[in-house]
Amino acid sequence: MDKKVLRNLSYGVYVVTTKDNDKNVGCIANSVMQITSSPSIVAISINHDNYTNKCIKEKNTFAVSILKEDSNPNIIGEFGFKSSKDVNKFENINYKLEDGMPIINDSCGYFICKVINTIETSTHTIFLGEIINMDGFTNDNPMTYKYYHEKLKGTSPKNAPTYQEEIIKKEEKSIKKWKCKICGYVYEGEKVPEDYICPICGQPHTEFYEVN
Ligand SMILES: Cc1cc2nc3c(=O)[nH]c(=O)nc-3n(C[C@H](O)[C@H](O)[C@H](O)COP(=O)(O)O)c2cc1C
Repeated sequence: MDKKVLRNLSYGVYVVTTKDNDKNVGCIANSVMQITSSPSIVAISINHDNYTNKCIKEKNTFAVSILKEDSNPNIIGEFGFKSSKDVNKFENINYKLEDGMPIINDSCGYFICKVINTIETSTHTIFLGEIINMDGFTNDNPMTYKYYHEKLKGTSPKNAPTYQEEIIKKEEKSIKKWKCKICGYVYEGEKVPEDYICPICGQPHTEFYEVN
């Protein structure tokens, strides 16, 4: 089986948020899709190891903020590569509360869902949510998963359902590549400049290692 074929599926890049008692929590998810129109039902797939999973189960409500192409990539660094178990991801992020759910301001819009059903797989919970509120902020292009990979040169951590071991093409091997230890962003060039800051997660050049 050629797993690369799955790379042809299309996705967006979203921030799924909820509450852990009074604390705002959430994570990045690409696996968000609309299931029905009336009532409007969506499905999201969240890894059992993500803190957000346990919090959605307890709160029975979640929100999805739709990132746009020019959303600050640090949002992905913060929400996609750290855990709300350890940090307050909202500390440096502009957000507002709608129906008690945190919404990312730097997005195209959002929807809020009540969980109506869950399906367990061996690694992820699929939450089916009925939309109870939604609004749009801008007509900017929503960020696609393809844009995230190709333009922002982002990677996906193990907990993303679409994770695949990275394949570096043979013909690209002559260009030196340096990978960020935190988010996996790849810098191409002879050496990472000393004043370089990872555009996704903000780490300095010392956090990059050479990939062969
Ligand atoms: C581009 C991208 C897409 C992701 N998609 C998903 C996803 O669909 N489902 C999921 O469970 N995790 C996904 N992740 C991983 C989580 O965002 C990540 O494990 C996060 O640190 C979990 O945070 P938490 O422990 O606070 O919930 C994705 C990460 C990135 C960067």
